[in-house]
Amino acid sequence: MTSIQKRTCVACSMILIGAMSRSAPAASEAPSDPLAPAGAWSEKVFGHAPLPPMGWNSWNAFHTQIDEAKLMGSARAIVDFGLRDLGYRYVNIDDGWWQNRRLPDGRMMVRTGTFPGAKIAGPGETSFRPLVDALHGMGLKAGIYTDIGRNACSQGYPEPDSLLPTGSVAEREVGIFDHVDQDITLYFKEWGFDYIKVDGCGLNAFSEDKPAVKEGRFRAFPAYVVSDAVNQSRVADIRNLFGEVRDAMMRVRPENDFVFSICNWGTANVRAWGRDLGNLWRTSDDIEPRWSRMLYNFDSVATRELYSGPGHWNDPDMLFIGHGDFDAGHLREARTHFALWAIEDAPLMIGYDLRHAPKALLDIWGAAEIVAVNQDPAGNQGVLAFTSDDVQIIVKQLANRGEKAVVLFNRGTEPATATLTAGHLKFSPSEPIRVRDLWSRRDLPPFTQELSFKLAPRESVMLRVRGRSELPEGWYLSEMPARLYVAADGIRALEADPQIHRPVPQDSGTRGGGPRPALAGWGGPRADSTPYNNELRIHGAAYVSGIGALANSRLQVKADGGFKRFSARVGLDDSSRERATKVRFEVYGDGRLLVQSPEMGADAAAFPLVTDVAGVKTIELVAREIGVAHAPTVVTWGEAALER
Ligand code: GAL
Repeated sequence: MTSIQKRTCVACSMILIGAMSRSAPAASEAPSDPLAPAGAWSEKVFGHAPLPPMGWNSWNAFHTQIDEAKLMGSARAIVDFGLRDLGYRYVNIDDGWWQNRRLPDGRMMVRTGTFPGAKIAGPGETSFRPLVDALHGMGLKAGIYTDIGRNACSQGYPEPDSLLPTGSVAEREVGIFDHVDQDITLYFKEWGFDYIKVDGCGLNAFSEDKPAVKEGRFRAFPAYVVSDAVNQSRVADIRNLFGEVRDAMMRVRPENDFVFSICNWGTANVRAWGRDLGNLWRTSDDIEPRWSRMLYNFDSVATRELYSGPGHWNDPDMLFIGHGDFDAGHLREARTHFALWAIEDAPLMIGYDLRHAPKALLDIWGAAEIVAVNQDPAGNQGVLAFTSDDVQIIVKQLANRGEKAVVLFNRGTEPATATLTAGHLKFSPSEPIRVRDLWSRRDLPPFTQELSFKLAPRESVMLRVRGRSELPEGWYLSEMPARLYVAADGIRALEADPQIHRPVPQDSGTRGGGPRPALAGWGGPRADSTPYNNELRIHGAAYVSGIGALANSRLQVKADGGFKRFSARVGLDDSSRERATKVRFEVYGDGRLLVQSPEMGADAAAFPLVTDVAGVKTIELVAREIGVAHAPTVVTWGEAALER
């Protein structure tokens, strides 16, 4: 599906409901004061995704033309080529597996024409159990696909060769809506699946105005999701539906051995709440095998570093390596696509017919040292250390102190020089920095100060570096985004993020006015940047390291009793549009106020906040606005750091 196809009529949808601008509580809980310290880490533990999930999915390779032979052939190749042992475990069936929903009992039926192994004893009975058992027997895990509404994407946006569900209107309602317990029990208990991707077309492609609905082919479902307008989706209703699925999985699999993938294409401000309900959530519309579309998908995660961490991952969509601009004739682009997904902690889902994979592509998915960066146990998403529309430098703190991964990336069409500095790495510039090139698997000579690379158009370099941290005894918070949880982002009205690349739509070309920014997130807190992509600066003093946020935000830091001291230099950021307001900065430890700043105005120099945090498990950073501001107030936690 493309962004244009997924768009729904703005006028025919409902108005945004309140409280979506902060990371709201789980579906069943009542909203509470967003700035009140919770006293404990608020992120819920559910499912099993301590590292970004890795595996294979049928969609990018086969669309609805998936069948058992293709699936099992790719599964076998995953084992034979050693990819399973590298971590590619999930073999996921996407859209197209279903025949229909049997009536009157509502049981979902497998399309046995394409999955003959699903025919089991008993007239007309089908089961995926044999296929799931076979995958488990190969040391793999199995994934299934459904839609959160009544109908699926392939029904809403059929392609010429789509294999679609058959039967009456009711029999073709293959989505999970109104069947949550029944379907989750079938998929996870009876059939034994381990992973589910829940798509969202049922909430945007079957509204009353759609021709197929008018013709009576589908039951109408209101357009809960409005992809091209950040303030039009029915956020709370959408969250509730995904919440029901999550809760059903927790009931059916109380051991928590499941993965729940939310696929609503970055709409409905899922950026802020995906983490509360899913193990991964799509941050954008579908990837396509085109360079500029890949940039769009990448950009949709690149500034969301504070929303991802162990158990909960930003998902810029599956890999498209092997196709189009990323095929075996474009290895430079394919490597860049892989390096970017790896450093951003994106799930690594291969979308290729692995029965016929050239070695050059296998070498990309199988690049063990790059996979290891993605699977680093600390789970820190890469942070933009340098950004421009041409070259970007992304740095990811690894679990070992003093070790980082780096991608230097040329987005553009001209050759470029990319210079990596000790400052980008937050390493001491006078000590040697050791460097390993992760594609060539060779150590490069150590450097001090800086190291330059010539990058061809679309080329990237991926490194693992080791040096002496700038902070001898500690870490900047911006070096450990996995330890942060955005409990309240302070956004009062959602705004579309203008930084995300907007390719020419494939289906409509340059007809109309072109794609507008459509993914909410502008104003969300950031590592080493203000929420609006300005450098951090208080009263003329710039901070390379720190956390930028809006006033009325609350950020949790998972300290786990492992640190002694918290320090930061705080104040209103010089870029703040609001100049008349005052903000008080408060630091809580397990719910207790530890230290606070005076009420600070735009003219105040940075205030040093320092506090003992020995034994504290959850630190909470609150920027409390005093009075009512008229424009967004930007605040900076400059050089915010924890020391051991
Ligand atoms: C899209 C989804 C794709 C794929 C497709 C199947 O909505 O984003 O990843 O699942 O539906 O029809």
